[in-house]
Amino acid sequence: MAEKKWWQKSVVYQIYPRSFCDSDGDGIGDLNGISSKLEYLKELGIDVIWLSPVYQSPNDDMGYDISDYRAIMKEFGTMEDYDRMLHKAHGLGLKIMMDLVVNHTSDEHPLFVESRKARNSPYRDFYIWRDGKDGPAPNNWGSSFGGSAWEYDEATDQYYLHLFSKKQPDLNWENDAVRKRIFDMMTWWCDKGIDGFRMDVISLISKVPELPDGETGKNGYGDFTPYCANGPRVHEFLREMNREVLSKYDLITVGECSGVTVEEAKKYASVSGSELNMVFQFEHMNLDGGESFKWNHKKIRLTELKEVMSRWQTGLKGKAWNSLYWCNHDQPRMLSRMGNDSPKYREVSAKMLGACLHMLQGTPYIYQGEELGMTNYPFTSPDEFRDIESINAYQELTEKEIFSHADAFDYISYKSRDNARTPMQWDDSPQAGFTTGTPWIAVNPNYREINAREQMARKDSVFHYYQKLIALRRQYDIIVYGDYELLLPDSEEIYAYLRTLESQTLLVVCNFTEREVGYDVPDGFAKKEGKVLISNYERTEIPAVLTLAPFECIVVLYGQP
Ligand code: GLC
Repeated sequence: MAEKKWWQKSVVYQIYPRSFCDSDGDGIGDLNGISSKLEYLKELGIDVIWLSPVYQSPNDDMGYDISDYRAIMKEFGTMEDYDRMLHKAHGLGLKIMMDLVVNHTSDEHPLFVESRKARNSPYRDFYIWRDGKDGPAPNNWGSSFGGSAWEYDEATDQYYLHLFSKKQPDLNWENDAVRKRIFDMMTWWCDKGIDGFRMDVISLISKVPELPDGETGKNGYGDFTPYCANGPRVHEFLREMNREVLSKYDLITVGECSGVTVEEAKKYASVSGSELNMVFQFEHMNLDGGESFKWNHKKIRLTELKEVMSRWQTGLKGKAWNSLYWCNHDQPRMLSRMGNDSPKYREVSAKMLGACLHMLQGTPYIYQGEELGMTNYPFTSPDEFRDIESINAYQELTEKEIFSHADAFDYISYKSRDNARTPMQWDDSPQAGFTTGTPWIAVNPNYREINAREQMARKDSVFHYYQKLIALRRQYDIIVYGDYELLLPDSEEIYAYLRTLESQTLLVVCNFTEREVGYDVPDGFAKKEGKVLISNYERTEIPAVLTLAPFECIVVLYGQP
């Protein structure tokens, strides 16, 4: 086994600062709010906090459009507030991982402001500028947020590339000076004492230089993915970043890698440590996608989910390291997607999903509120969308008559990123204790039933269950390092798997349905004494043949603990 690293044993908790805790009543979460909740995170037991961007930003994409990488967004506070938070976190033994958004900047970043001034600006080549060709743009690529990926700039009669919103121009990583500036900025943060980076869409930084047209989709635009995801120089760039910055500090690094395959991940996250520690892959999140991107009501098939998870579990074994996630700020709540968010099954299904993920090999990521079983938001009107992706999609899908207004609204309500971005539900006071003012995005009305205060006081809550899942990982090496084997690959009802380490075996059985389902314990285990490590129905032993209750999960350890 390769050398063990602290981040392999860690559990990461993602904070979306805008929606976590507002200390000054302006309706927007902030750094002092985060500082005030660090004890809560300590009690949950996590090791690392991933902070979504807190840098200065005009907020076209809620902080993922940065105009100053060395300044804090005014609504979030000051650099002194940041330093205080970092210091307090470290004092509690919590690490801070910063979001690094360097595929693009904001169009309000001084470098872009300079770059767009003139064709001969010394900063022109910091971004990707091209003349129009044949059609109205240099190529047919569509942006991830709708419309063309090119924006015409009248002043210099050229187009600039933006794979996301037009206020997020892509940086030109081919330019040595661009990379140098990025590495300097990263060093500046490392010297401040941060503990790692989550790298935003890092798989997109190297584009095929010819920028060829992509295959046209339903919205009439071409797909840039084959020419941008895992592009020709991406590994070279990351190795350089590793040499220049990452290798000089003891960090946790995770690359958000849309379009990444198991084979590619072995390069990004090789145990040799020449690039990153791990990647976020998207295969499991894309299983309910379709022709119209992610906008539909399709359900993820359990057999497909298991196939994907298992391929990553076995594919990276000994070669690279997995990251494990069901939720983040870009995804609807997994509980509303693969669990059941009705009052009857909410808690058991939230616990089942938690156990299913946390017993896998890799570093688990918890997204704020997941540990409470927070759910999707019950949208009643498109006016409630705050996210640029949802707002643009609604406009494009209805204007182009790809869907009726009702269907477009339905699909977006189900998959909107805003589902994850509603305020953290702290207690049952007005606005869920998130703010004393008017929140920037509506609080989910179920906060009276689902909130941290209630759950912390109740022993059988989702919160305490997550606390136990985290503690188990710390206690049992088999959860961190054990080999993985999928059982019952063809079952659409049960996700069962084994982990093995030396003489120990861990059996994990999860019923993904709201029906009772019979389960035969595998031959050889039926007669063995097993220790139930965690269950969501207070089961303390496992019979050879059992009937799993709706969304039941059970984790049993065989062999000497
Ligand atoms: C990543 C972020 C997402 C953002 C996008 C563009 O996918 O997670 O929130 O919109 O990159 O920066």
